Amino acid sequence: MANIVIIGTQWGDEGKGKIVDFLAEFADCVVRFQGGNNAGHTMVIDGEQFISHLVPSGILQGKTCYIGNGMVVDPEVLVEEIEYLESKGIDCGAEKLRISEKAHIIMPYHKAIDIAREKMKGGTKIGTTGRGIGPCYEDKASRRGIRFVDLIDPVDFREKVEKVVEEKNFYLKEFLKADSIDAEEIIEVYSRKASQLAPHVENISVSLYNSIRSGQQVLFEGAQGTHLDIDHGTYPFVTSSNTVSGNTTCGSGIGPKEIDGVLGIVKAYTTRVGEGPFPAELFDETGDFIQKKGVEFGATTGRKRRCGWLDMVMLRNSVRLNGLTGLVITKLDVLGELESINICTGYEFEGSVMDHFSASLKVLAGCKPVYETMPGWSEDISGIRSFDELPETTKQYLKRLEELAEVPIDIVSVGPGRDETIILNNQMDNQLGKE
Ligand code: GDP
Ligand code: IMO
Ligand code: MG
Repeated sequence: MANIVIIGTQWGDEGKGKIVDFLAEFADCVVRFQGGNNAGHTMVIDGEQFISHLVPSGILQGKTCYIGNGMVVDPEVLVEEIEYLESKGIDCGAEKLRISEKAHIIMPYHKAIDIAREKMKGGTKIGTTGRGIGPCYEDKASRRGIRFVDLIDPVDFREKVEKVVEEKNFYLKEFLKADSIDAEEIIEVYSRKASQLAPHVENISVSLYNSIRSGQQVLFEGAQGTHLDIDHGTYPFVTSSNTVSGNTTCGSGIGPKEIDGVLGIVKAYTTRVGEGPFPAELFDETGDFIQKKGVEFGATTGRKRRCGWLDMVMLRNSVRLNGLTGLVITKLDVLGELESINICTGYEFEGSVMDHFSASLKVLAGCKPVYETMPGWSEDISGIRSFDELPETTKQYLKRLEELAEVPIDIVSVGPGRDETIILNNQMDNQLGKE
């Protein structure tokens, strides 16, 4: 039995959705424990693309999915997503999709504040997804948040909304110069969503505890990436939750003893959406090549993703911060056709080489990447399903990554499809050991 956590090691969009969907075959339950619909997780099954923002990616494999207490949920988006998935024949009924009674609700004023603040900041904006994530987590921390348990109780919900709206409207109108929000309209719209979602709401800590006790395997689906973590990322250019593996337990209500492994998802190059430092960013035609070939557009906002070489300073940071027990290298097919491939192994800063990721934005801005150059490969590797069949230079590249990260590679992804995957070791399937 193994309960495994999936974590993005970079700035998000590493291919977590594809890998969660792939591994969900071996799991009984799949849990999201932080973030909200700032996430966009893509799965491709038999050529058909699915994007989920809130519902755990295990839903396509028919597994029981949990929206953890650490998440922030926009009920309108959730209902829409359930309807979209059900229209595609995927069961999202109350038995399959469980929602923590303690998850916080993203309210219309959270979205309005997020958008108006970014507008006001202009050139210093963070480049948020505008989904109200930060303002909702702020209210959670300041103990003014509204949770599912409140949403599904009409009396409590009305009382809480009425209490908070006056203050939100003052801030929106007077400080942010934005439109105010109507409490009655919120109550009407959200109450309709509440009755649709109420059958899904429960204490998921209890359900997960019982599942684990009965020998079921749980897969935990991280959102965003390690370098967007509120504590460990490129603050303030981060999201508003802890994205590292340590938050798995807080965000789902299980104890740390239940975690058996942590898989770090590593895109074979680096991308970033939104503002903030990016030492190995490419501004040349190689960057354009990767952006186009990798179709690097945000799954949530459609924004073009900034592209750069794989950065081992970041990856080693992720190895330590998450306690990674295995790596999953994704989008390796995208690097095909490049004559040579760079790996950033350190940063040059004021005449010396740094091998750690600085907390100072000033230092990061002054860091110049130090590259190790490896030969590329010209073959299309997307049809390959075993490590041995990969071109020699591809194997060399992977072995070098393993060496630099000091963590074994478990899975290599060579295309967006569920089956476009090479398994070296499956931590969720005891029968498949490493050869
Ligand atoms: P997530 O947020 O980490 O789940 O990643 P996204 O879904 O936002 O972005 C990853 C994108 O890469 C999606 O469009 C996936 O379909 C695609 N993808 C995932 N793995 C691979 C791969 O190995 N090769 C290629 N070419 N595309 C991939
Ligand atoms: P997945 O799960 C990539 C980024 C935003 C912005 C910053 C803060 O698909 O990997 P927020 O709306 O969270 O306050 O925005 O974080 N961001 C992501 N970037 N992938 C994501 O999720 C992201 N979720 C948030 O672009 O820079
Ligand atoms: Mg994404």
